[in-house]
Amino acid sequence: MENSNDLSLNLRKIFINYKNLLPSKLKVFLSILLLLVNTIISLTIPYITMIIIDRIDLNNIDFLLLSILLLFLVLSLFINVITTLSIINVAEIILKNIRKALCEKILYLPITFFDETNTGEIMSRITNDTMVLKDFIASQATSFIASIITVIGSIILLIIIDWKIAILLSVSIPIAVITVILIGNREYKISRKLQDAYADWQSNLHRIISDIRLLKSAAAEKIEQKSEFSKIDELKKLSIQEGKIMAFIEPISSTIIMLLLIIIVGYGGLRVSQGTLTTGGFVATLSYLFRLTSPFSDIMNFFTHYQKFLGSFEHISAILNFENEVISYSCKCDNLNDKNALCFSDVNFYYDSNIPILRSINFEAREGEVTAIVGPSGAGKTTIFSLIERFYQASNGYIYYQNMNISNYDLYEWRKKIAYVFQDSPMMYGTILSNLTYGLNEYTQEMIDDALEKSSLTSFVSLLPQGLNTEVGEKGIKLSGGERQRLAIARAMIRNPQILLLDEATSHLDSESERLVQNSLEKLMYGRTTIVIAHRLSTVINADKIIVLENGRITGTGTHYELMKENHLYNKFVKQQLTP
Ligand SMILES: Nc1ncnc2c1ncn2[C@@H]1O[C@H](COP(=O)(O)OP(=O)(O)OP(=O)(O)O)[C@@H](O)[C@H]1O
Ligand SMILES: [Mg+2]
Repeated sequence: MENSNDLSLNLRKIFINYKNLLPSKLKVFLSILLLLVNTIISLTIPYITMIIIDRIDLNNIDFLLLSILLLFLVLSLFINVITTLSIINVAEIILKNIRKALCEKILYLPITFFDETNTGEIMSRITNDTMVLKDFIASQATSFIASIITVIGSIILLIIIDWKIAILLSVSIPIAVITVILIGNREYKISRKLQDAYADWQSNLHRIISDIRLLKSAAAEKIEQKSEFSKIDELKKLSIQEGKIMAFIEPISSTIIMLLLIIIVGYGGLRVSQGTLTTGGFVATLSYLFRLTSPFSDIMNFFTHYQKFLGSFEHISAILNFENEVISYSCKCDNLNDKNALCFSDVNFYYDSNIPILRSINFEAREGEVTAIVGPSGAGKTTIFSLIERFYQASNGYIYYQNMNISNYDLYEWRKKIAYVFQDSPMMYGTILSNLTYGLNEYTQEMIDDALEKSSLTSFVSLLPQGLNTEVGEKGIKLSGGERQRLAIARAMIRNPQILLLDEATSHLDSESERLVQNSLEKLMYGRTTIVIAHRLSTVINADKIIVLENGRITGTGTHYELMKENHLYNKFVKQQLTP
């Protein structure tokens, strides 16, 4: 009883919360109606057969009755096809809606979600769990409805045909069902474990393949092989356990059916020979008995799959319920000195722990100027950029741009103002062109040529046989480090941003590449609000303002010469850059 309460409660919750994932009410209603009609028609066929058999006289065949039976068979076939099609349609619409909802969610979720979740797991939710939901709706849930009607209908008709046999069946069938449900429960537990093991294996494989270079350079083949093999062995072990239960279920259910058959055939045969049951009635009874067997296994299946469905549903709704990125806040506005600048005003920031990453950050990056940030690794430099990009929200304090709190801008409008050249120049699988114009709705050949020219990529691209359509490989692996950096700069250039965030790569390029990159950067920075996390001495010397960041705090601000005089850490930084 508790189980069925749970079931209706959960289903109600699902229907209320995820109404938008369901197809139109009319479609759902029609499918259920068709399912009911289909089941009822197929239920009446043995009954009509009984009437025909009982009335049949080989010398005087009742063609009217035969035609009715034939009509029923054809009608039943026809409705069966339509019902299946309409259920498939409903299930596929739900699958499509869930897939779309998940994909949309993934695109709009905040970075914090991805900090906590691994890619393989997300992939498994989107692919495996959605299929579990669809299968449940398309097969188990619909068979469940049909089965309930078949069981109730068959028993009523059996009572009409012969109540004694009906009673005999009503006693023996529940015993059979309980036996099967008990086995089914064990089957469910194993299948749940198998599902988790499968997801685990899939996400491990994903990790291995996506970091295959790291794996090879770390000579981690043996270790990974061991971990993969143990996961595969676990899958085999669980599958065998599931198989063993399946191996029992089949013979046990068929033995139960055999027993029921013996009882009914024996008892019914006796009744026919005594003349208390007609031949037609006997045939119909047997026919209902056969009809009752599959609904019982379907009902049992429903309960095991329902648990699986709930598991998958929980996984999916955990993603769907995660809050999207906030588009804009309404925040207070101060009057600033330079109304066009990008300002940090008393900004503090923590990731999720209590360790402060940024403390009382105050600075102003002016329009048309280059502001350089220098500081040791882990000081919080990239975090400052993440806050500007609004990947995270400052824990205290505010960031302003052109006298407006950046949180007040529409998120997408805000990010369009910025071009962010990441520390590791990430590239996506695709061509040079697709990487260059990624995210742009419109662009012209001139814009492309100009961006390539200013990033010193023109001659490189023109030498490639496929030119702009050259594939860059997974994560841009077919390009050199310097080429990737310059392509990342070109990508920023073509966006013509108001604000440029540049996280200089720490890798040292040869002097020719360095010169090319430096050249491109100077062209890119011209006339914009540029903030650069600097690792190269040339960048800082040319900057209008330098900020020294140590352990989340600003410990110095000024020009190169000012800082050389007064800042110990900056002095150290410059000396390091000068000594090879
Ligand atoms: N997503 C995150 N979740 C939790 N902590 C993080 C996250 N990203 C960075 N940190 C922590 O925040 C601190 C600052 O990191 P940040 O990336 O800003 O350093 P950085 O100054 O850019 O260093 P580097 O010069 O090495 O790039 C580090 O201690 C890091 O461990
Ligand atoms: Mg960094």
